Amino acid sequence: MSVDVLLGLQWGDEGKGKIVDYISDKYDIIARFQGGPNAGHTIIFNNQKYVLHTIPSGIFNEKVKNIIGNGVVIDPITLCNEIEKLNQLGVKCEKNLFISRKAHLIIPTHKHLDAASELAKGKKKIGSTLRGIGPTYMDKTGRNGLRVGDIESEKFKEKLEQLTNKHKKILEYYKYNASLKNDIKLWLDAIQKIKEIPFIDSEYFISEQLSKGKKVLAEGAQGTLLDIDFGTYPFVTSSNTISSGACNGLGVAPNKIQDVIGIFKAYCTRVGNGPFITELNNGIGDKIAKKGHEFGSTTGRARRCGWIDLPALKYAITINGVTKLSMMKSDVLSGFNSIKVCTGYEYMGKIIHHLPYYMNQNAIKPIYVEFKGWHQDISKMNKIDDLPNECQTYIQFLEKELQIPISIISVGPDRLQTIFK
Ligand code: GDP
Ligand code: IMO
Ligand code: MG
Repeated sequence: MSVDVLLGLQWGDEGKGKIVDYISDKYDIIARFQGGPNAGHTIIFNNQKYVLHTIPSGIFNEKVKNIIGNGVVIDPITLCNEIEKLNQLGVKCEKNLFISRKAHLIIPTHKHLDAASELAKGKKKIGSTLRGIGPTYMDKTGRNGLRVGDIESEKFKEKLEQLTNKHKKILEYYKYNASLKNDIKLWLDAIQKIKEIPFIDSEYFISEQLSKGKKVLAEGAQGTLLDIDFGTYPFVTSSNTISSGACNGLGVAPNKIQDVIGIFKAYCTRVGNGPFITELNNGIGDKIAKKGHEFGSTTGRARRCGWIDLPALKYAITINGVTKLSMMKSDVLSGFNSIKVCTGYEYMGKIIHHLPYYMNQNAIKPIYVEFKGWHQDISKMNKIDDLPNECQTYIQFLEKELQIPISIISVGPDRLQTIFK
Protein backbone atom coordinates (compact mmCIF):
# COMPACT_ATOMS: atom_id res chain seq x y z
CA MET A 1 0.00 0.00 0.00
CA SER A 2 1.02 3.61 0.27
CA VAL A 3 2.57 6.23 2.49
CA ASP A 4 0.84 9.48 3.41
CA VAL A 5 2.89 12.35 4.79
CA LEU A 6 1.64 14.82 7.39
CA LEU A 7 3.65 17.96 7.94
CA GLY A 8 3.61 21.59 9.02
CA LEU A 9 3.25 24.37 6.43
CA GLN A 10 4.42 27.26 8.62
CA TRP A 11 7.15 27.59 11.27
CA GLY A 12 6.15 24.56 13.33
CA ASP A 13 3.65 24.04 16.16
CA GLU A 14 0.75 24.01 13.72
CA GLY A 15 -0.95 21.17 15.63
CA LYS A 16 0.59 18.17 13.84
CA GLY A 17 0.50 15.95 16.94
CA LYS A 18 -3.24 16.46 17.43
CA ILE A 19 -4.08 15.48 13.84
CA VAL A 20 -1.70 12.50 13.67
CA ASP A 21 -3.35 11.10 16.79
CA TYR A 22 -6.81 11.92 15.42
CA ILE A 23 -6.31 10.13 12.09
CA SER A 24 -4.08 7.32 13.39
CA ASP A 25 -6.92 4.79 13.13
CA LYS A 26 -6.61 4.90 9.35
CA TYR A 27 -3.00 3.69 9.50
CA ASP A 28 -0.99 0.62 10.55
CA ILE A 29 2.29 2.48 11.07
CA ILE A 30 3.12 6.03 12.15
CA ALA A 31 6.75 6.97 11.50
CA ARG A 32 8.65 10.14 12.44
CA PHE A 33 11.07 10.98 9.62
CA GLN A 34 13.20 13.93 10.77
CA GLY A 35 13.99 16.36 13.57
CA GLY A 36 14.48 15.34 17.14
CA PRO A 37 13.60 16.56 20.61
CA ASN A 38 13.39 20.13 19.30
CA ALA A 39 9.83 19.05 18.44
CA GLY A 40 6.97 19.15 20.92
CA HIS A 41 3.75 17.53 19.68
CA THR A 42 0.74 17.98 21.95
CA ILE A 43 -2.13 15.53 22.19
CA ILE A 44 -5.12 16.04 24.46
CA PHE A 45 -7.91 13.58 25.21
CA ASN A 46 -9.92 12.57 28.29
CA ASN A 47 -8.69 15.76 30.00
CA GLN A 48 -5.12 14.50 29.83
CA LYS A 49 -2.36 16.38 28.00
CA TYR A 50 0.69 14.63 26.52
CA VAL A 51 3.67 16.31 24.85
CA LEU A 52 5.79 14.04 22.67
CA HIS A 53 9.27 15.03 21.52
CA THR A 54 10.68 11.96 19.80
CA ILE A 55 7.94 9.33 19.96
CA PRO A 56 5.45 9.39 17.06
CA SER A 57 1.98 10.66 17.86
CA GLY A 58 0.34 7.30 17.07
CA ILE A 59 1.55 5.86 20.39
CA PHE A 60 -1.89 6.18 22.05
CA ASN A 61 -3.47 3.94 19.44
CA GLU A 62 -2.72 0.35 20.46
CA LYS A 63 -3.35 -0.95 16.95
CA VAL A 64 -0.61 1.20 15.46
CA LYS A 65 3.13 0.50 15.24
CA ASN A 66 5.28 3.59 15.82
CA ILE A 67 8.69 4.00 14.25
CA ILE A 68 11.40 6.53 14.99
CA GLY A 69 12.93 6.68 11.51
CA ASN A 70 16.53 6.94 10.36
CA GLY A 71 16.13 10.66 9.63
CA VAL A 72 15.46 11.45 13.30
CA VAL A 73 18.16 12.46 15.78
CA ILE A 74 17.61 10.89 19.19
CA ASP A 75 18.56 12.11 22.64
CA PRO A 76 18.38 8.91 24.73
CA ILE A 77 17.71 10.89 27.92
CA THR A 78 14.68 12.71 26.46
CA LEU A 79 13.43 9.49 24.88
CA CYS A 80 13.71 7.64 28.20
CA ASN A 81 11.83 10.38 30.00
CA GLU A 82 9.09 10.21 27.40
CA ILE A 83 8.81 6.43 27.69
CA GLU A 84 8.73 6.62 31.49
CA LYS A 85 6.03 9.30 31.51
CA LEU A 86 3.90 7.28 29.13
CA ASN A 87 4.45 4.11 31.19
CA GLN A 88 3.27 5.93 34.32
CA LEU A 89 0.08 6.80 32.46
CA GLY A 90 -0.40 3.20 31.40
CA VAL A 91 0.84 3.52 27.82
CA LYS A 92 3.32 0.72 27.22
CA CYS A 93 5.82 1.63 24.52
CA GLU A 94 7.75 -1.65 24.49
CA LYS A 95 5.05 -3.28 22.36
CA ASN A 96 4.44 -0.76 19.63
CA LEU A 97 7.54 1.42 19.40
CA PHE A 98 10.53 0.67 17.17
CA ILE A 99 13.75 2.59 16.54
CA SER A 100 15.73 2.66 13.31
CA ARG A 101 19.33 1.48 13.69
CA LYS A 102 20.30 4.24 11.27
CA ALA A 103 18.94 7.08 13.41
CA HIS A 104 21.72 9.28 14.79
CA LEU A 105 22.34 9.82 18.49
CA ILE A 106 22.58 13.21 20.16
CA ILE A 107 25.45 12.90 22.64
CA PRO A 108 25.90 15.27 25.62
CA THR A 109 28.55 17.38 23.90
CA HIS A 110 26.22 18.06 20.97
CA LYS A 111 24.04 20.11 23.29
CA HIS A 112 27.02 22.07 24.60
CA LEU A 113 28.13 22.73 21.01
CA ASP A 114 24.65 24.04 20.22
CA ALA A 115 24.86 26.44 23.17
CA ALA A 116 28.42 27.50 22.32
CA SER A 117 27.49 28.17 18.70
CA GLU A 118 24.47 30.26 19.65
CA LEU A 119 26.51 32.21 22.19
CA ALA A 120 29.15 32.95 19.58
CA LYS A 121 26.51 34.25 17.17
CA GLY A 122 25.40 36.86 19.71
CA LYS A 123 22.54 38.97 18.34
CA LYS A 124 22.45 36.87 15.18
CA LYS A 125 21.60 33.68 17.05
CA ILE A 126 19.01 31.36 15.52
CA GLY A 127 17.01 30.98 18.71
CA SER A 128 17.67 27.23 18.68
CA THR A 129 15.93 24.98 21.18
CA LEU A 130 19.47 24.01 22.26
CA ARG A 131 18.65 20.32 22.04
CA GLY A 132 21.83 19.57 20.05
CA ILE A 133 20.00 19.20 16.74
CA GLY A 134 22.33 21.25 14.49
CA PRO A 135 25.60 19.74 15.77
CA THR A 136 24.21 16.18 15.50
CA TYR A 137 23.14 16.66 11.88
CA MET A 138 26.54 18.27 11.23
CA ASP A 139 28.25 15.11 12.48
CA LYS A 140 25.88 13.03 10.36
CA THR A 141 26.70 14.86 7.12
CA GLY A 142 30.35 15.18 8.20
CA ARG A 143 30.37 11.35 8.50
CA ASN A 144 31.41 11.33 12.13
CA GLY A 145 28.05 10.50 13.71
CA LEU A 146 27.13 7.85 16.23
CA ARG A 147 24.07 5.81 15.33
CA VAL A 148 21.58 3.68 17.23
CA GLY A 149 22.97 0.56 15.53
CA ASP A 150 26.39 1.35 17.06
CA ILE A 151 24.93 0.67 20.50
CA GLU A 152 25.04 -3.04 19.53
CA SER A 153 28.74 -2.83 18.64
CA GLU A 154 31.58 -3.75 21.01
CA LYS A 155 33.28 -0.53 19.99
CA PHE A 156 30.37 1.69 21.07
CA LYS A 157 32.11 3.29 24.05
CA GLU A 158 35.28 3.80 22.04
CA LYS A 159 33.31 5.56 19.29
CA LEU A 160 31.52 7.69 21.88
CA GLU A 161 34.83 8.69 23.42
CA GLN A 162 36.33 9.59 20.04
CA LEU A 163 33.39 11.82 19.17
CA THR A 164 33.33 13.39 22.63
CA ASN A 165 37.05 14.18 22.37
CA LYS A 166 36.55 15.79 18.98
CA HIS A 167 33.78 17.94 20.45
CA LYS A 168 35.91 18.91 23.46
CA LYS A 169 38.46 20.43 21.08
CA ILE A 170 35.76 22.46 19.33
CA LEU A 171 34.40 23.58 22.71
CA GLU A 172 37.90 24.73 23.64
CA TYR A 173 37.97 26.80 20.46
CA TYR A 174 34.69 28.40 21.55
CA LYS A 175 36.22 28.89 25.04
CA TYR A 176 33.11 27.14 26.34
CA ASN A 177 33.39 25.48 29.73
CA ALA A 178 31.29 22.37 30.06
CA SER A 179 31.35 19.86 32.85
CA LEU A 180 30.68 16.51 31.25
CA LYS A 181 31.16 13.76 33.81
CA ASN A 182 27.60 13.56 35.07
CA ASP A 183 26.19 14.12 31.59
CA ILE A 184 27.90 11.04 30.18
CA LYS A 185 26.80 8.83 33.09
CA LEU A 186 23.14 9.85 32.72
CA TRP A 187 23.39 9.40 28.97
CA LEU A 188 24.86 5.89 29.25
CA ASP A 189 22.14 4.92 31.76
CA ALA A 190 19.54 6.09 29.26
CA ILE A 191 21.18 4.04 26.51
CA GLN A 192 20.72 0.92 28.68
CA LYS A 193 17.03 1.73 29.04
CA ILE A 194 16.30 2.39 25.39
CA LYS A 195 17.71 -1.05 24.61
CA GLU A 196 14.33 -2.34 25.80
CA ILE A 197 12.80 -0.88 22.64
CA PRO A 198 13.46 -3.00 19.52
CA PHE A 199 16.08 -1.60 17.13
CA ILE A 200 15.10 -2.35 13.54
CA ASP A 201 16.24 -1.85 9.97
CA SER A 202 13.27 0.40 9.46
CA GLU A 203 13.63 0.74 5.68
CA TYR A 204 13.18 -3.05 5.31
CA PHE A 205 10.49 -3.13 7.97
CA ILE A 206 8.42 -0.42 6.27
CA SER A 207 8.90 -1.88 2.81
CA GLU A 208 7.74 -5.33 4.02
CA GLN A 209 4.71 -3.82 5.69
CA LEU A 210 3.84 -1.89 2.54
CA SER A 211 4.05 -5.03 0.44
CA LYS A 212 1.64 -6.70 2.89
CA GLY A 213 -0.87 -3.93 2.11
CA LYS A 214 -0.30 -1.88 5.27
CA LYS A 215 -0.71 1.89 5.37
CA VAL A 216 1.97 4.21 6.69
CA LEU A 217 1.70 7.80 7.90
CA ALA A 218 4.98 9.72 7.93
CA GLU A 219 4.86 12.33 10.71
CA GLY A 220 6.82 15.50 10.15
CA ALA A 221 8.30 17.76 12.78
CA GLN A 222 8.92 21.53 12.63
CA GLY A 223 7.46 23.18 9.52
CA THR A 224 8.23 23.95 5.88
CA LEU A 225 9.58 27.43 6.62
CA LEU A 226 12.14 25.83 8.97
CA ASP A 227 13.39 23.45 6.24
CA ILE A 228 17.17 23.49 5.84
CA ASP A 229 16.92 24.08 2.07
CA PHE A 230 13.66 25.93 1.55
CA GLY A 231 13.08 27.64 4.88
CA THR A 232 14.01 31.17 5.95
CA TYR A 233 17.73 30.29 6.00
CA PRO A 234 19.77 30.61 8.21
CA PHE A 235 16.89 30.84 10.69
CA VAL A 236 15.89 27.23 10.15
CA THR A 237 16.43 23.83 11.66
CA SER A 238 19.00 21.36 10.29
CA SER A 239 16.80 18.79 8.56
CA ASN A 240 14.47 18.51 5.58
CA THR A 241 11.07 19.09 7.07
CA ILE A 242 9.31 18.88 3.69
CA SER A 243 7.58 15.87 2.09
CA SER A 244 10.72 14.67 0.30
CA GLY A 245 12.29 14.39 3.77
CA ALA A 246 9.97 11.42 4.34
CA CYS A 247 11.73 9.53 1.51
CA ASN A 248 15.21 10.14 2.99
CA GLY A 249 14.11 9.88 6.58
CA LEU A 250 12.34 6.53 6.22
CA GLY A 251 13.80 4.97 3.09
CA VAL A 252 10.57 5.01 1.12
CA ALA A 253 10.54 5.68 -2.61
CA PRO A 254 8.77 8.81 -3.92
CA ASN A 255 6.29 6.72 -5.92
CA LYS A 256 5.01 5.19 -2.67
CA ILE A 257 3.76 8.56 -1.44
CA GLN A 258 0.07 9.17 -1.90
CA ASP A 259 -1.44 12.00 0.12
CA VAL A 260 0.47 14.91 1.61
CA ILE A 261 -1.53 16.43 4.44
CA GLY A 262 -0.52 20.02 5.16
CA ILE A 263 -1.28 21.45 8.60
CA PHE A 264 -1.58 25.18 9.17
CA LYS A 265 -2.89 27.53 11.82
CA ALA A 266 -5.76 29.90 10.95
CA TYR A 267 -3.16 32.59 11.73
CA CYS A 268 0.61 32.25 11.98
CA THR A 269 3.23 31.85 14.70
CA ARG A 270 6.97 31.53 14.96
CA VAL A 271 9.20 30.72 17.94
CA GLY A 272 12.84 31.74 17.75
CA ASN A 273 14.45 34.35 15.53
CA GLY A 274 14.17 35.12 11.82
CA PRO A 275 11.86 36.93 9.42
CA PHE A 276 8.09 36.83 9.90
CA ILE A 277 6.47 39.22 7.45
CA THR A 278 2.95 39.23 8.93
CA GLU A 279 4.11 39.47 12.55
CA LEU A 280 1.90 41.66 14.75
CA ASN A 281 3.94 43.54 17.32
CA ASN A 282 0.84 45.07 18.82
CA GLY A 283 -2.23 44.40 20.93
CA ILE A 284 -3.75 42.14 18.27
CA GLY A 285 -0.66 39.93 18.28
CA ASP A 286 -0.80 39.85 22.07
CA LYS A 287 -4.47 38.92 21.97
CA ILE A 288 -3.82 36.01 19.56
CA ALA A 289 -0.93 34.83 21.76
CA LYS A 290 -3.09 34.94 24.87
CA LYS A 291 -6.13 33.26 23.34
CA GLY A 292 -4.02 30.64 21.58
CA HIS A 293 -1.75 29.98 24.61
CA GLU A 294 1.15 30.51 22.25
CA PHE A 295 4.03 29.25 24.33
CA GLY A 296 6.47 26.65 22.96
CA SER A 297 5.66 23.01 23.84
CA THR A 298 9.38 22.22 24.18
CA THR A 299 11.02 25.35 25.58
CA GLY A 300 8.06 27.30 26.96
CA ARG A 301 9.21 30.39 25.04
CA ALA A 302 6.57 32.89 23.89
CA ARG A 303 5.65 32.37 20.24
CA ARG A 304 5.50 35.41 17.95
CA CYS A 305 2.04 35.81 16.37
CA GLY A 306 0.69 37.32 13.16
CA TRP A 307 -1.90 37.02 10.40
CA ILE A 308 -1.95 34.18 7.91
CA ASP A 309 0.51 34.61 5.02
CA LEU A 310 -0.78 33.26 1.68
CA PRO A 311 2.40 33.68 -0.41
CA ALA A 312 4.24 31.63 2.23
CA LEU A 313 1.45 29.03 2.42
CA LYS A 314 1.26 28.68 -1.37
CA TYR A 315 5.05 28.22 -1.47
CA ALA A 316 4.80 25.49 1.17
CA ILE A 317 1.94 23.77 -0.67
CA THR A 318 3.92 23.70 -3.92
CA ILE A 319 7.16 22.44 -2.40
CA ASN A 320 5.41 19.66 -0.50
CA GLY A 321 2.84 18.68 -3.15
CA VAL A 322 0.07 19.07 -0.58
CA THR A 323 -3.17 17.24 -1.46
CA LYS A 324 -5.20 17.87 1.72
CA LEU A 325 -5.26 20.69 4.25
CA SER A 326 -6.09 20.91 7.95
CA MET A 327 -6.75 24.34 9.44
CA MET A 328 -5.94 24.49 13.15
CA LYS A 329 -6.84 26.79 16.02
CA SER A 330 -9.79 28.34 14.20
CA ASP A 331 -11.41 28.93 17.62
CA VAL A 332 -8.61 31.36 18.52
CA LEU A 333 -9.85 33.79 15.85
CA SER A 334 -13.25 34.24 17.56
CA GLY A 335 -13.60 37.68 19.12
CA PHE A 336 -11.84 39.88 16.55
CA ASN A 337 -13.76 42.62 14.74
CA SER A 338 -11.69 42.05 11.65
CA ILE A 339 -9.29 39.38 10.46
CA LYS A 340 -6.60 40.00 7.89
CA VAL A 341 -5.09 37.73 5.25
CA CYS A 342 -1.80 38.59 3.57
CA THR A 343 -2.16 38.06 -0.18
CA GLY A 344 1.12 39.54 -1.42
CA TYR A 345 4.14 41.62 -0.45
CA GLU A 346 5.32 45.10 -1.36
CA TYR A 347 9.03 44.77 -2.02
CA MET A 348 11.39 47.27 -3.63
CA GLY A 349 8.50 49.30 -5.06
CA LYS A 350 6.77 46.27 -6.59
CA ILE A 351 3.97 43.94 -5.57
CA ILE A 352 5.18 40.35 -5.47
CA HIS A 353 3.56 37.02 -4.63
CA HIS A 354 6.64 34.92 -3.98
CA LEU A 355 9.18 34.73 -1.13
CA PRO A 356 12.21 36.79 -2.17
CA TYR A 357 15.73 35.43 -1.59
CA TYR A 358 16.43 38.08 1.04
CA MET A 359 13.58 37.77 3.49
CA ASN A 360 14.31 41.12 5.07
CA GLN A 361 11.40 41.81 7.37
CA ASN A 362 11.99 45.57 7.29
CA ALA A 363 11.99 45.77 3.49
CA ILE A 364 8.92 43.60 2.85
CA LYS A 365 5.47 44.98 3.63
CA PRO A 366 2.49 42.63 3.72
CA ILE A 367 -0.55 43.48 1.58
CA TYR A 368 -3.74 42.50 3.32
CA VAL A 369 -7.36 41.83 2.50
CA GLU A 370 -9.64 42.28 5.45
CA PHE A 371 -12.52 40.07 6.55
CA LYS A 372 -15.27 40.68 9.04
CA GLY A 373 -14.57 38.70 12.20
CA TRP A 374 -17.00 36.68 14.33
CA HIS A 375 -17.67 36.69 18.03
CA GLN A 376 -19.35 33.34 18.66
CA ASP A 377 -17.42 30.66 20.55
CA ILE A 378 -16.93 27.91 17.95
CA SER A 379 -15.00 25.50 20.16
CA LYS A 380 -18.00 23.24 20.77
CA MET A 381 -19.26 23.21 17.21
CA ASN A 382 -18.97 19.95 15.31
CA LYS A 383 -20.49 20.67 11.92
CA ILE A 384 -19.21 23.01 9.25
CA ASP A 385 -22.73 24.41 8.76
CA ASP A 386 -22.85 25.49 12.42
CA LEU A 387 -19.83 27.79 12.01
CA PRO A 388 -20.65 31.53 11.80
CA ASN A 389 -21.04 32.84 8.25
CA GLU A 390 -17.95 35.04 8.66
CA CYS A 391 -15.86 32.00 9.60
CA GLN A 392 -17.21 30.04 6.62
CA THR A 393 -16.38 32.98 4.33
CA TYR A 394 -12.82 32.99 5.69
CA ILE A 395 -12.45 29.24 5.03
CA GLN A 396 -13.95 29.52 1.53
CA PHE A 397 -11.57 32.36 0.66
CA LEU A 398 -8.55 30.30 1.78
CA GLU A 399 -9.71 27.24 -0.16
CA LYS A 400 -10.19 29.33 -3.30
CA GLU A 401 -6.75 30.93 -2.95
CA LEU A 402 -4.94 27.72 -2.04
CA GLN A 403 -6.91 25.56 -4.48
CA ILE A 404 -6.96 22.62 -2.10
CA PRO A 405 -9.84 21.50 0.10
CA ILE A 406 -9.52 22.12 3.82
CA SER A 407 -10.76 18.73 4.98
CA ILE A 408 -10.24 19.19 8.73
CA ILE A 409 -11.09 22.28 10.76
CA SER A 410 -9.80 22.16 14.30
CA VAL A 411 -11.73 24.21 16.86
CA GLY A 412 -9.92 23.31 20.08
CA PRO A 413 -6.97 21.30 21.41
CA ASP A 414 -8.98 18.20 22.34
CA ARG A 415 -9.37 15.24 19.99
CA LEU A 416 -13.12 15.80 20.00
CA GLN A 417 -12.85 19.45 18.94
CA THR A 418 -12.35 18.53 15.31
CA ILE A 419 -14.64 19.10 12.34
CA PHE A 420 -14.23 16.73 9.39
CA LYS A 421 -15.52 18.15 6.14
P1 GDP B 1 2.83 20.52 16.83
O1 GDP B 1 4.25 20.73 17.20
O2 GDP B 1 2.57 20.88 15.40
O3 GDP B 1 2.30 19.16 17.17
O4 GDP B 1 1.99 21.58 17.69
P2 GDP B 1 2.21 21.92 19.25
O5 GDP B 1 1.66 20.82 20.07
O6 GDP B 1 3.60 22.36 19.53
O7 GDP B 1 1.35 23.24 19.37
C1 GDP B 1 0.00 23.28 19.08
C2 GDP B 1 -0.74 23.79 20.34
O8 GDP B 1 -2.05 24.15 20.00
C3 GDP B 1 -0.88 22.72 21.42
O9 GDP B 1 -0.88 23.34 22.67
C4 GDP B 1 -2.22 22.10 21.11
O10 GDP B 1 -2.83 21.51 22.25
C5 GDP B 1 -2.99 23.32 20.66
N1 GDP B 1 -4.03 23.08 19.66
C6 GDP B 1 -4.05 22.21 18.63
N2 GDP B 1 -5.16 22.39 17.89
C7 GDP B 1 -5.85 23.39 18.47
C8 GDP B 1 -7.07 24.07 18.14
O11 GDP B 1 -7.74 23.80 17.16
N3 GDP B 1 -7.44 25.08 18.98
C9 GDP B 1 -6.73 25.44 20.07
N4 GDP B 1 -7.17 26.45 20.82
N5 GDP B 1 -5.58 24.83 20.40
C10 GDP B 1 -5.14 23.82 19.59
P1 IMO C 1 7.48 21.13 16.23
O1 IMO C 1 7.73 19.77 15.64
C1 IMO C 1 8.54 25.37 16.35
C2 IMO C 1 12.76 26.36 15.75
C3 IMO C 1 13.51 26.93 16.92
C4 IMO C 1 14.55 27.77 16.19
C5 IMO C 1 14.86 26.95 14.96
C6 IMO C 1 16.09 26.09 15.09
O2 IMO C 1 7.00 21.09 17.63
O3 IMO C 1 6.63 21.94 15.32
P2 IMO C 1 16.79 23.93 16.47
O4 IMO C 1 16.49 23.50 17.86
O5 IMO C 1 16.27 23.00 15.42
O6 IMO C 1 18.24 24.26 16.28
O7 IMO C 1 16.02 25.33 16.28
O8 IMO C 1 13.73 26.13 14.75
N1 IMO C 1 12.09 25.07 16.02
C7 IMO C 1 10.78 24.92 16.16
N2 IMO C 1 9.79 25.84 16.20
N3 IMO C 1 8.25 24.05 16.43
C8 IMO C 1 9.22 23.12 16.37
O9 IMO C 1 8.95 21.80 16.32
C9 IMO C 1 10.55 23.54 16.28
N4 IMO C 1 11.75 22.90 16.23
C10 IMO C 1 12.67 23.84 16.06
O10 IMO C 1 12.68 27.69 17.75
O11 IMO C 1 13.94 28.97 15.75
MG1 MG D 1 5.38 21.80 18.63
